[in-house]
Amino acid sequence: MRATSASPSSLSGALAHEATSSFSSLGLKKQIQSFWQHSPCDSWFTNEQPRTPAFYKSLDEHRYNVHRRLLSTVGFEKCNGLRVLEIGCGCGSEAERFARAGAQYTAVDLTNAAVSLTQRRFELAGLSGQFLQGDAENLPFANACFDLVYSHGVLRHTPDTARAIQEVYRVLRPGGRAVIMLYHSNSFNYQINLRVVRRFRAHLLRSKAGFRLAQMIGRDSVEELRRHAQLIHQDPHSYFDMQNVLNRNTDGPDNPLSQVFSRESAHSLFCQFQNIRTEAMFWNPNWLPGVGKLLPRVVEDKLASRWGWHLWICAEKQRIEFTTELVRAEDSNISDLEALAA
Ligand SMILES: C[S@@+](CC[C@H](N)C(=O)[O-])C[C@H]1O[C@@H](n2cnc3c(N)ncnc32)[C@H](O)[C@@H]1O
Repeated sequence: MRATSASPSSLSGALAHEATSSFSSLGLKKQIQSFWQHSPCDSWFTNEQPRTPAFYKSLDEHRYNVHRRLLSTVGFEKCNGLRVLEIGCGCGSEAERFARAGAQYTAVDLTNAAVSLTQRRFELAGLSGQFLQGDAENLPFANACFDLVYSHGVLRHTPDTARAIQEVYRVLRPGGRAVIMLYHSNSFNYQINLRVVRRFRAHLLRSKAGFRLAQMIGRDSVEELRRHAQLIHQDPHSYFDMQNVLNRNTDGPDNPLSQVFSRESAHSLFCQFQNIRTEAMFWNPNWLPGVGKLLPRVVEDKLASRWGWHLWICAEKQRIEFTTELVRAEDSNISDLEALAA
């Protein structure tokens, strides 16, 4: 599958575009669906037989070892009795934790693979939940029917992130909470690793001697490096476009779309919400070859909070919505009062 050269700014405005752009967005959505259908998130981190207890156990061990603050950030202990929607459930690690915490859990994912893997996890654990294949940009739910919407590393892969966040707002009840993780643009990974190191590595991949050197940069397998080399050979101009460098160097060389967000752009995306908090997390020691693994945890945590790759956004839906009707009613009361005073 070839990656496209779609840019986030053109994508986030897809709704306002003419029919042609909707068609290209639809094509891109199909590529995204096909990509994740064939490589369910994180499944590459284990050699265990898929859909077995050992498969889920090893995925979770890896996940919570690498993302040390994930569990405490979500706060599962406060989810008992809440109606929780997870958008993009992947292999269902947090899904299981929500259900074990007593939440009424619902999953929606663009792919049948993720839905079925999460459903199987629930069967094995004797848990209950609701599982649907669907699109974050058109959630198949009524207004205001969830207390919490959680989405980890998903809305950065959908063409119209702004629309997906409007959908999160719509399905939350007033006062309900959104907990969303996106990729962070003001991060070491984006500004240094992808912009400089990965681009330099891509230049090396253009020759046989360079290929051998490139194997020392990053931890990609030889097959993945070969695939990068093939893509560069096919269309070097397109490969070096920063949007494509981002797509191809996050989640695999054939990943059709990734997007990055600053704290400021996250605040704009969530402007309908109140009590918006953003926090950067996740530092990969491999970004600093040689010294990365020697750093004490406290230094790693400091780097993660300033230059981390994961941007978490926690926000609440307004308790009272100032709809046009309310404003109109207020206006008419004011003019009534003005009339009385006259
Ligand atoms: C990087 S994985 C993250 C999965 C999981 N949340 C995790 O953290 O492991 C991205 C997931 O988002 C799903 N996805 C991508 N675009 C989507 C969309 N528009 N609507 C629903 N799910 C989507 C993919 O199918 C995939 O399962």
